[in-house]
Amino acid sequence: MCLSQVFIFLALFGLAFCVQFQANINMAGVLGWARFDSSLQTVTVNITKGSCGPLNLSLHEFPVMYAHFRMPCQETNIGARVYTFSVSQATATVNVSGLFTQRPRLDDLSLVVEACNGTKACTVVRQNTKVNTWQARFFGNVSGNVYIRQNVLDSSARVLSNLVSVQGSESATSVYAFVSQSSKSSCAALLNQLDQSSLTRLGNLTVGAPTQLMNSSKDVTNFNTDARFMVLKFGGKYMCAIVRVMEGKQVNARVNMKGARGYISFSQPSPFDVTNIMVNLTDLKSRVSGYHVHQFPLPQMMSTREGLCSNDNVGGHWNPFNLNTTDPAYPRVPGETHDMYEVGDLSSKHGSLGGTDNFEASFTDWNLPLFGRNSITGRSVVIHYPNGSRFACASIGYPGEVTVGRSVFKNTVVGTILFTQLRANPYSDVSVFLDLSYGDPATSATNGHNWHIHKYPISSETDNSPDRCQSTGGHWNPFNINTTDSSYALNCRPDNPFACEIGDLSRKHQTLSLSPKVGGVESKYFFTDTVSWISGMSSAIGRSVVIHRANGTGPRLACANITDAWLPSAQTGSWVGVQPSTGQIHFAQKSPQGPTLINVSLLNLDSKAGGYHVHVLPIKNGGDPCSNENVMGHFNPLSINQSLSPPPGTGSVDQYEIGDISGKFGLLTNLDQKHALYMDSNMPLSGPNSIVGRSVVIHYTNGSRMQCANISADNTFVGQLVTAKAAFKSDVNGAITLSQWTFPDGSYSNVILEVDIRSSQQLEIMSSSWEVHDLRVGESASQCTGVGGKFNPFGMPAMSASCSPDHPLNCEVGDLTAKHGAVSLAQRELFTDSNVQLTGDFTAVYRSIVLKNQSGILACADIMPESPSTTLIFPNVTSFSRYDFRSRVARVLDVGLWRVTILPGELSSAAGGKCQKVSILVSGRVSMEMIDSLKNDERMGPFQQSDQCSPNSPSSGQLLFPGRHSFMFTIAAVQFLLCWVL
Ligand SMILES: *[C@@H]1O[C@H](CO)[C@@H](O)[C@H](O)[C@H]1NC(C)=O
Ligand SMILES: *[C@@H]1O[C@H](CO)[C@@H](O)[C@H](O)[C@H]1NC(C)=O
Ligand SMILES: *[C@@H]1O[C@H](CO)[C@@H](O)[C@H](O)[C@H]1NC(C)=O
Repeated sequence: MCLSQVFIFLALFGLAFCVQFQANINMAGVLGWARFDSSLQTVTVNITKGSCGPLNLSLHEFPVMYAHFRMPCQETNIGARVYTFSVSQATATVNVSGLFTQRPRLDDLSLVVEACNGTKACTVVRQNTKVNTWQARFFGNVSGNVYIRQNVLDSSARVLSNLVSVQGSESATSVYAFVSQSSKSSCAALLNQLDQSSLTRLGNLTVGAPTQLMNSSKDVTNFNTDARFMVLKFGGKYMCAIVRVMEGKQVNARVNMKGARGYISFSQPSPFDVTNIMVNLTDLKSRVSGYHVHQFPLPQMMSTREGLCSNDNVGGHWNPFNLNTTDPAYPRVPGETHDMYEVGDLSSKHGSLGGTDNFEASFTDWNLPLFGRNSITGRSVVIHYPNGSRFACASIGYPGEVTVGRSVFKNTVVGTILFTQLRANPYSDVSVFLDLSYGDPATSATNGHNWHIHKYPISSETDNSPDRCQSTGGHWNPFNINTTDSSYALNCRPDNPFACEIGDLSRKHQTLSLSPKVGGVESKYFFTDTVSWISGMSSAIGRSVVIHRANGTGPRLACANITDAWLPSAQTGSWVGVQPSTGQIHFAQKSPQGPTLINVSLLNLDSKAGGYHVHVLPIKNGGDPCSNENVMGHFNPLSINQSLSPPPGTGSVDQYEIGDISGKFGLLTNLDQKHALYMDSNMPLSGPNSIVGRSVVIHYTNGSRMQCANISADNTFVGQLVTAKAAFKSDVNGAITLSQWTFPDGSYSNVILEVDIRSSQQLEIMSSSWEVHDLRVGESASQCTGVGGKFNPFGMPAMSASCSPDHPLNCEVGDLTAKHGAVSLAQRELFTDSNVQLTGDFTAVYRSIVLKNQSGILACADIMPESPSTTLIFPNVTSFSRYDFRSRVARVLDVGLWRVTILPGELSSAAGGKCQKVSILVSGRVSMEMIDSLKNDERMGPFQQSDQCSPNSPSSGQLLFPGRHSFMFTIAAVQFLLCWVL
């Protein structure tokens, strides 16, 4: 009908519009649709559920954002009403020519239907075309998001604004809006020399009062998609924001557990669209039933896979509107509108997986956002057994490459906060995942802790001082929001985050409760922050998080820097073996809780290869490199019985040894080349079961070893390697080598401990406990008496019940036994430790490793630097700034400050008390000549070498304080002198 009319119109007048706008309703008990026809100037309404008698309908100027609000159809959320009409019954067609006269385009309007009992259902009106979306975000007197939406092949567009006036002398209700195609490099550059003629006026946008964001829209007839900046003008002042493409999101939960494999994929083109779900699961074997989105992603690293999907790990269903599922009226089967179900209750909304083996289906969901505060992005999916217990789970990933900021709390409060955002878009949502508890199990639970991002990182001068949290400055507040005004508490709310300081996480989200229970659901929070940024310039990375005392009281309880989390990656080095083939295997983690991507690229296999696996140890010089003596067997820390694993390439990744790549993904049999990309949620690159530092062995088809290569961390970017070694030379012989990558922001990778120590014949002990102790034994000592206590810089209680291989932060740093189990004195071993540091104020270097059994200490060895290091001896100084000292060293060596570590025992006396010494360690490579030059370089100032420090220099006051007159002696110096004389 429509087509023929077009034809007639075209024939008669040469042009015509025949556009249909569709609005499907699924809300508040109302199901149905409405279709607007621009040529007939009518709307046909067909309400199939939830109507009784005549219906009032209205159109509003802003599209519904499904599942963003408890009351989505309120005017604050869908903007002002632009048209109303009514129909006498559930199915009817009425004339709406008045509407089309007013606006020919109905795209992105909201349609509201009043249900029988007065509640409202609303939906978005749209043509069936693809829409492009751009976004600009403003911070200032007027703050908020502006979206520009354009149908493809259309020149007109609509500007959707969501703006609020932020407290200030005058509050705006309307602003002029412009776009600019200027090629200026930044907003600052554009505003600095603003050329009015380069601005294209879009019209006025409405601005909400300080208490409430206001949604409104504006049609523009000609929008140039090359716009780079948006400019708002208010009160004679201009504000500018970069216009960015707002991409649709597609995120996946990859299921690979208990033999079941597949994915659940979610996609949403924009926050103004419904979400599509695609489920594709195989080998369910009628074992499962319900499935839901749960609150938290899977734990990042675990020593076992036991309880991986437990309530403690992934929490309960994602239910931001707190629907009561125990209410008998709660719908347990599909058929009701989606807002009647918990956001995460996929099976009640769309039907269960029960009784199926392979399940493939797609659904449209009106209440499952991938954008905004209630987003499911970064959370998880759990598939349940019919009895409700948990069968399998998978983290929901991110729609692209992410940047991850990480805060590691070690003192008083223990745990991590991860901030994750799309790398390419600083306007995208930031996921904030917390797992924090009290370090001392005897602390009682507390509530109401404020937490903020503070402006600065902890000062490098005060890392280990009790005042360290004071050094972080005030809250991160780049737009100078006035918090002293009483309106701040009123305006800054989770639903009005633009009124908040960017760093005010407690008001943007909620205050924290802290309990001593570690790893439980009590310790976890997941927030989606819509107004913050981890990517790009002056982001949250490089600052710190401060947690304040309970009940909203001021003092700072704990703090930690936000550093780049440097998602780990690793690759195979050169192959050795009889006649090795070439190529490489690369391992990378792309999101904090995501699977490891294994990129296999093997060449010249010559049809000789069969299986390939990660083996326990790296290759050691000497002997047959790939032999069992050298690299040992498959890496299998979870003790999987390989004989029970399914045939290669047929099971899920948890049914094979961690190292069994060919078991998980298939053999290399009969191949000359293999190029494949696999995803493995059971191949950690960090934590206790990390494969980094081990080796890969490719076997012949008959199982014997063809070739092997080491797996090393892949740090082609900014990292620097640090190594240290504890050499045992007594009843125990051999060495423990420690290595770690360190980064400019003070963060560091896990430490790999390569252990190669043997008990002597007379000792005959197979294994022992091992600990890092505070002090060095030194060269001379033959007994291990002076080693001090266990290294415990963060004051964790000894033998804490919270300490375990999965919760190393709750252990004394030096308690290697609690974190890794006993160490072998009979064979090589490799361990991955996540809380030992080789650099920084808490370095383990210049301390000792002590081996013990029930009867006492067996042996000890000092942890000595393998990386460049030296000891500088200089005349006594009266005050010593670690920062000043490190800065001078860094300047002379021409390296970043972060690469210089002061080793323990600083300022110990030398030359009979006349002088002092400080030892340093440098990350990465520096020539020995450079290190030696430190002694005499002028830039070392008071820390230069001096003759008076040589062992046979005369001891006189004159020489003791060269270049100073006696009247200038500080009190400290006088005191020292007195002590020295007495
Ligand atoms: C109106 O009906 C809907 C759908 O049946 C229901 O969810 C809602 O609670 C009702 N509202 C009132 C005020 O009774
Ligand atoms: C109304 O919608 C229902 C469901 O889509 C359909 O079965 C019915 O035929 C429609 N009625 C009219 C008059 O279009
Ligand atoms: C447009 O915004 C400006 C700036 O706030 C205001 O002065 C002007 O009155 C507004 N115009 C209209 C038509 O609302």
